[in-house]
Amino acid sequence: MMPTQSRGAGRFADFDLARVPSPCFVVDEVALAHNLAILKTLGTAADADILLALKAFSMWSLAPIITEHLSGSCASGLWEAQLARRRFGGHVSTYAPAFKPEEIAEIAALSDHVIVNTPHQIDRFADQIRAGNAELGLRVNPMHSEGQITKYDPCAPGSRLGTPLDQLGDSVPDTVSGLHIHTLCEQDFPPLARTIDALRPLLDKVAPRLNWLNLGGGHLVTRDDYQRDELVALLGDLAQSYGVRIYMELGTAVAFDAGILVGEVLDVMTNDGAVAVLDVSATCHMPDVLEAPYRPALRGEPADGHQVRLAGPSCLAGDVIGTYGFRDVPRAGDRLAFLDQAHYSMVKTTTFNGVALPSLAVWNSDTDELRMVRRFDYSDFEGRLS
Ligand SMILES: Cc1ncc(COP(=O)(O)O)c(C=O)c1O
Repeated sequence: MMPTQSRGAGRFADFDLARVPSPCFVVDEVALAHNLAILKTLGTAADADILLALKAFSMWSLAPIITEHLSGSCASGLWEAQLARRRFGGHVSTYAPAFKPEEIAEIAALSDHVIVNTPHQIDRFADQIRAGNAELGLRVNPMHSEGQITKYDPCAPGSRLGTPLDQLGDSVPDTVSGLHIHTLCEQDFPPLARTIDALRPLLDKVAPRLNWLNLGGGHLVTRDDYQRDELVALLGDLAQSYGVRIYMELGTAVAFDAGILVGEVLDVMTNDGAVAVLDVSATCHMPDVLEAPYRPALRGEPADGHQVRLAGPSCLAGDVIGTYGFRDVPRAGDRLAFLDQAHYSMVKTTTFNGVALPSLAVWNSDTDELRMVRRFDYSDFEGRLS
């Protein structure tokens, strides 16, 4: 099981959960601004471009503050590239494990960089990408694993993510302007340094004629203990020794500890202990809980207390968020909040079983202003089916 990285409730400790409908994602724009300020300082110090990974956090109502601090965003295909251009602006970098021929021209027109996965995709799409005035990049698999969980390790045996280093030989095609790697997941600096070391033999040969190097995401640089000075030094060294511009595509680090998911207890039953059924579902609202898997932190959980299994309202027997301690066994109508839910949870929600999508709210923990930015209703459920 992956550990949660959350540092705790922070200012959400005092947020009155009854102020929002349930379920609801609440993002603290002050916490987001705190992360963005760290990223801006980092980008400036390293003279590097930091992009928001839309796959992790796409809350475009907050685009103005994001674009003020970051250089742009990275997309995973046509729809995210459209969102990037329409709502965020700045630099747009698009990577997909494989592109569709009917979409590539539009993607190239929307993007500054289009990063393909294999030499075969270069052969197929290089001309169209360059005709769209985008620079062509190639994702490389440095064949250096740093992740403990195979599912989150793009360098795991059999991975489709990037051309394995040993298949590249000493060169990349002349049409390629930059290289891309993405190998980490919520990690600190030493795994990045080791990954770069694994990549250096290729960089030594090809980087001097490239324009840029994109180091992907998975760098939890907004965690208090991230070794940011060492990162700045490494990025500066890479830029100088190879004459390339450095890009990073950060998702988790942008929205880290900036949002909660508020839910409500619908019923409590007993079966081998207390089981509370919530209007928040692991499978519909926090799929990484089941996929990673991990146990999201719960606001105000005491070290001991009554052990209660928190489970979702769907039909999936495994729609269980986890077992948590409570001072008093919760009752129908009680509100609760899972911490650090702004990244990935919000973009991954589904309406499986007709379970309602959580509303979206922005809270300013300095002024206490609360804005409901989106509420979903039956038409959102019906509208994606026919
Ligand atoms: C290619 C690529 N770039 C960036 C990211 C963002 O990673 P993170 O949210 O861990 O920073 C991901 C996440 O899967 C990714 O696959």
